[in-house]
Amino acid sequence: MGKTIIISNRLPVQLQINNGGINAVPSVGGLATGMKSVHSGSESLWIGWSGLTDEDIPAELEGDIDKALKKNGCAKVSLNAEEIDGFYYGFSNRTVWPLFHYFLEYSEFELNFWNVYKSVNQKFADAIIENSGEDDTIWVHDYQLMLVPQMVREKRPNTTIGFFLHIPFPSYEIFRTLPWREEILEGLLGSDLIGFHTYDYERHFLSSVRRLLGLEVSFNDVFMDNRVIKVDSFPMGIDYKKFKNAASSHKLENSEERSDLQMRLDSHKASAPDTKLILSIDRLDYSKGIAKRLNAFEYFLNKYPEYKEKVRLIILAVPSRSNVPQYQLLKKEIDELVGRINGEFSTVNWTPIWYFYRSMPFENLIDLYTNSDIAWLTPLRDGMNLVAKEYIATRTDKTGVLILSEMAGSAYEMNEALLINPNNFEEQADTLQKAINMPVEEQISRNTFLQNRLERYNVEVWANEFMNALNQKRELGHAFI
Ligand code: UDP
Ligand code: G6P
Repeated sequence: MGKTIIISNRLPVQLQINNGGINAVPSVGGLATGMKSVHSGSESLWIGWSGLTDEDIPAELEGDIDKALKKNGCAKVSLNAEEIDGFYYGFSNRTVWPLFHYFLEYSEFELNFWNVYKSVNQKFADAIIENSGEDDTIWVHDYQLMLVPQMVREKRPNTTIGFFLHIPFPSYEIFRTLPWREEILEGLLGSDLIGFHTYDYERHFLSSVRRLLGLEVSFNDVFMDNRVIKVDSFPMGIDYKKFKNAASSHKLENSEERSDLQMRLDSHKASAPDTKLILSIDRLDYSKGIAKRLNAFEYFLNKYPEYKEKVRLIILAVPSRSNVPQYQLLKKEIDELVGRINGEFSTVNWTPIWYFYRSMPFENLIDLYTNSDIAWLTPLRDGMNLVAKEYIATRTDKTGVLILSEMAGSAYEMNEALLINPNNFEEQADTLQKAINMPVEEQISRNTFLQNRLERYNVEVWANEFMNALNQKRELGHAFI
């Protein structure tokens, strides 16, 4: 058997050009952070976009770019600014992302976006052919590359191809509105195995395949031409040990090695020992429900005024896709909401919201997770939400309360969290109050179940289960023909 080729738009590192040199910074987002653990432990090549457009790269740095990527086990697909506009900012993030997250009114159906998406998907498929052999296993990731499986299949009919979708697959009623719905389904069906985070997404996909392509579907097998395509759900896990160990060796009070952020958190705790810290971490994305969360926080402070000066909300919003108009509007809305709520409630001793608009290095994420009494995650739709899992993994003494939207894929596996409907402010205010007052024994009991499950179904198990199912398919493959 050959090697595994991973393909995604976003590589685990992003290259930047600084003072004439090249800098590799870790990528943000569940796909990159999760797959990174799988990639570093195995014999694999990861193909994707470097984060730089052709126009950004001076000719003399071309070789250095390839070297920097090779050091990380990666190879690049070169894209120019026009391709990034149509493919990444355009079809991927102005058409598919909003549609698949049920923001139908944000979805733009532009023929030009679609044409560029097709040609860039072809570029990725060509890069796979160029960098792989017949025996290699191809693992394609996410909504930016849904045509790639079929494009590779055309040139390599016998190659083993897996596809995993990291975002929701919407119900047929939503998906059918896409003008290029058949092409997208046919693109995906070039795979031998198609994986989703949850059984619901899988069901939605199969229903679209049946109704739009009229193909025979039996249980979770799709019959197409002379092939059988298997469809299944594989909820993605996290690198549990990495988070647990980082939290265990985390530098606490008075240690010289504390980060600046930890020192600030320590002095805050010393000055207000009874204040509860409530944390949320998301990319600044409308699917994450950040604006609604801020409104719900304001509602909570009005409904339960006794918690003024007793709680603080920490919002870490990571910049994301900031060339897309909806993201610019959201940034403005959130800046204004934070300003208004802080203006309304602050006292000389207290600012209700600490708002960070940036990405943070891993050690600071651990600082935030380990110091927060409550994690409050309210996506309106989310394929999975790994932040919820990371928070629980860092709670080494098993205290802490997770409040999680039932619209996140991870809610299916995290029943012991306090699950809420992000549109219901009354319920959110009451749940915050419950979380603040939850007895420690109850916290420990809930988190024990959660931690055991997360430790068992970690990201390595997730990847192995997907690869085993794909390999089984390879072995059975030709028996169906
Ligand atoms: N993350 C990060 N840097 C940050 C904030 C978050 O690397 O400053 C990571 C976080 O640890 C998590 C991922 O980004 O692994 C977010 O994944 P999630 O599934 O929650 O949401 P997504 O961004 O994929 O929609
Ligand atoms: C989600 C998507 C990933 C994407 C990530 C970050 O997790 O499923 O495919 O990489 O968000 O978004 P970005 O647009 O920065 O790659």
